[in-house]
Amino acid sequence: MKTAFQYINTATINFFREKIGRMTDYREANELLIQLSGIDSFFRNKNEFLTFLDLLKPCSVVCEGIARREYGDFQTPSELGNTICSYLASEGILPDVIIEPTFGKGSFIISALRHFHQIKLVYGVEIYESYYWQTKFLILELFINTPNLNKPKIFLYCDDIFKFDFSSIEKSFEDHSILVLGNPPWITNSELSTLNSSNLPAKSNFKFYNGFEAITGKGNFDIGEYIILKMFKSFSKYYGHMAMLAKNSVIKNIIYDLPKMNYRIGDMVALKIDTKYFFNASVEASLFKCSFKSHSSSTICKVSLLNSPHLVENQFGWVGDKFVSDVSFYGKYKKYDGLCPYTWRQGVKHDCSKIMELDIVNNKYVNGFKIEANLEDELIYGLVKSSDINLPVITNPRKYIIITQKKTGEDTSYIKNRFPNLYQYLSENEQLFIQRKSSIYTGKTSFSIFGIGDYSFKPYKVAISGLYKRPNFSLILPYKGKPIMLDDTCYFLGFDNITESIIVWALLNSKYVKELLSVIAFLDSKRPYTKDLLMRLSINKIAEDIEFEQVQDMIKCLPKNMSNQLTKSKWDEFLVKNKKENLRQKQRPLFEILR
Ligand SMILES: C[S@@+](CC[C@H](N)C(=O)[O-])C[C@H]1O[C@@H](n2cnc3c(N)ncnc32)[C@H](O)[C@@H]1O
Repeated sequence: MKTAFQYINTATINFFREKIGRMTDYREANELLIQLSGIDSFFRNKNEFLTFLDLLKPCSVVCEGIARREYGDFQTPSELGNTICSYLASEGILPDVIIEPTFGKGSFIISALRHFHQIKLVYGVEIYESYYWQTKFLILELFINTPNLNKPKIFLYCDDIFKFDFSSIEKSFEDHSILVLGNPPWITNSELSTLNSSNLPAKSNFKFYNGFEAITGKGNFDIGEYIILKMFKSFSKYYGHMAMLAKNSVIKNIIYDLPKMNYRIGDMVALKIDTKYFFNASVEASLFKCSFKSHSSSTICKVSLLNSPHLVENQFGWVGDKFVSDVSFYGKYKKYDGLCPYTWRQGVKHDCSKIMELDIVNNKYVNGFKIEANLEDELIYGLVKSSDINLPVITNPRKYIIITQKKTGEDTSYIKNRFPNLYQYLSENEQLFIQRKSSIYTGKTSFSIFGIGDYSFKPYKVAISGLYKRPNFSLILPYKGKPIMLDDTCYFLGFDNITESIIVWALLNSKYVKELLSVIAFLDSKRPYTKDLLMRLSINKIAEDIEFEQVQDMIKCLPKNMSNQLTKSKWDEFLVKNKKENLRQKQRPLFEILR
């Protein structure tokens, strides 16, 4: 309350001084305030009332600082709240009940009170006490300044949305039309873990990933996503709508998971907003709108701009059993959306780059702390990172990496006897390994890495960066007789045979793959290309449709000694094997050809 008090304007303070400054019973004050603003139990107890009376005295200056990052705090400016509510009203959405699950400084509640004149009930939850009070004061101000505005009953709770139980209030609006409105926090569970924050639902693995997936990339989620799903669970059985601001990645995940859930959601649309302008944020976000208790539940979401909501730019979602980024054009390119005959792998994960990644300066290894290290070469390999994958062929690494294991879980005690310098170097820095945040390393042998196996040691690789928008595939050749490794931002296929790797590199860079990726990849995701997506590339079907001359043409940009590798007879041999294996979907590389 103390922090919020400083935001009340002078006219309202004078109003309080005059009307309740001399009251002694908080219940008397509450009666006046509910008549005035509709807010139920404005003061929850006597102490709050006494604190407030204290603040009303002149010279009560309060200053409170608090780190807000763990709360994903991006308050909606009133300009945006008003635009959204006036758009919703223009769409004929005229709710009786408003539910704001994380109301912050109350921007959406205030806009809703201004734009929806038939509201009977407002429910809001917010964890931060200062915002809870600020919102109450702002609502009061609104009604003091506009006394004729429709006055619903308003129930505001200073509580944790993850623990809040909506079932008790649900009874009050069974026959009403509801609108779940707001802007849930913008923060992921992994950012929260970096901040050592517990602002999380009790069951973080709400998507039911298996143990390994849950602690690696797939287990990462935005808490806003959890809150939207909680709203679906509680309210999609009632007549009404939802309109929530969310990152585009959150909206995508929600649509992706819809078929697994039994909610009656329909008419989904994502209306893009200018996040830079409204939130000074560089992440892409939209207003996600949908209807509840829908007759025809859909799994496709339209995309427009909030400024011109009726001009549909794109549609994404499920087409049969395929999740696609462009529903309209998908039909044209879907032929090659199947199952890749090879297994895509993610590069090495170690979370200790300052120690594990090295440069060579004056013929000496230098680590991320710019400290020279005299190490045996054997466990050190060339390293390619996402930013390196912009050339057709990579023959020289820019950096180097220590590879402590040949496969996941391998005992690393061998390093001590066989590579004493390296062992000493790793041991001296063991604390940095111990401090690694990800629970993937818990209970694992010292200096463990992940994303390592036979496939990492294949001499020829075709790789793509998961992070960049352009789908460039690079051919990666061994360096000084050793395979080059990739970091965990990259995905790759490994080959024993150079000709096979050249053919696959050409097929992956063909227009068929580019076209398919343009309708199945989500370019505004942090990681547009993932293992799941790449596993959909039917390289075998593309090989059937492409001519030898086309492949020859594509590999012209490779050095002569490489492009010479591909002869017509080797191509035919590849096709024969390809045909045979066309229906086989295996874990390991399908064909060991062209020996
Ligand atoms: C992105 S801000 C948006 C606030 C408000 N809905 C708006 O549109 O301006 C998210 C809000 O969620 C609140 N919040 C974060 N974690 C919460 C929790 N566990 N329970 C309730 N509110 C929470 C934050 O304090 C913050 O006010």
